[in-house]
Amino acid sequence: MSEEFRLMPEQASSIAPSIDRLYAFLWGVSGVMMVLIGVLILYFAIKYRRGSIADRRPASTHFFAIEAAWIAGPFVVSMIIFFWAAKLYLVQSQPPAGAMEITGVGKQWMWKFQHPDGRSEINDLHVPLGQPIKVRLISEDVIHSMFVPAFRVKQDVLPGRYTTIWFEPTKPGKYHLFCAEYCGDDHSMMRGYVYVLEPARYQQFLAGREGGARSAGTEKLLERFRCITCHQGGGVVSRAPPLEDLLGRKVALSDGREIIADENYIRESILQPQSKVVAGYPAIMPSFEGQVDEEGLNQLINEIKSLGRGDQTKASNLDDRSTLGPEQRPNPDAEEAMP
Ligand code: CUA
Repeated sequence: MSEEFRLMPEQASSIAPSIDRLYAFLWGVSGVMMVLIGVLILYFAIKYRRGSIADRRPASTHFFAIEAAWIAGPFVVSMIIFFWAAKLYLVQSQPPAGAMEITGVGKQWMWKFQHPDGRSEINDLHVPLGQPIKVRLISEDVIHSMFVPAFRVKQDVLPGRYTTIWFEPTKPGKYHLFCAEYCGDDHSMMRGYVYVLEPARYQQFLAGREGGARSAGTEKLLERFRCITCHQGGGVVSRAPPLEDLLGRKVALSDGREIIADENYIRESILQPQSKVVAGYPAIMPSFEGQVDEEGLNQLINEIKSLGRGDQTKASNLDDRSTLGPEQRPNPDAEEAMP
């Protein structure tokens, strides 16, 4: 690792240059102030040193032009910083449509990532070059923070709530991944690498990995937990709202509120189904708290999402209850049919 000396990490994402420009501006403002104040201190120290001949009569107490300048100047500079930073913050908090979605789980003391095809890895994250990547993050225990200095992105990873981070890698290479929130004994060991690969090599990487495929080919969790018993969908009138096209849709709740169904809403509805009941449906869903871990919840959300992409085959597969055994067929009268 013969790296040349550098003050800043490499710029390896699409947003890195703009973040660095703002950072340079902050340095510039600080530098100008430092020089100005330092020079004035020196000048006055010499001019008014003991024994020097200088005008020591009391200074005037008001000088409108100077007072106006020291109010207006810092105001203008801080507003420039505010709007500049707010603009970047907005860009960074809104993943572009069509970003590739990776899920990330933080736990004491490791990172677990899962790719869209279901393959997973620990403490390493391989991503394709030039593709916007959105990572949906959640913690299994305490607060962590995902920090990739070369991408200039950092996001807290919270227990009980999804947060997202996105970036578009612009340079192949291997970059540090840190946990940037003190999370216990081995916080400093909670680190890894992000590998940015050419798209073709990323495909090779995926093809070369085995095991991980937790969702690919294996049983769908929507089936294992028999969600479709009630969430029949496919235009059927059922006891629970359909799941197709759910993500991002506006949902009217029984208490009159309207919300956008995002990942956090779906997660909450699986764990605490009574907290936001959809208008027009009975509050009969049992809680799945304790039955499904964070990775399972991620998988459920991905399965629901895949229903929403107009993938009719998947939707109709789920709706095709002839594949279930007789004891699994929904019985509209039996509440016990729910797990
Ligand atoms: Cu996880 Cu610090």
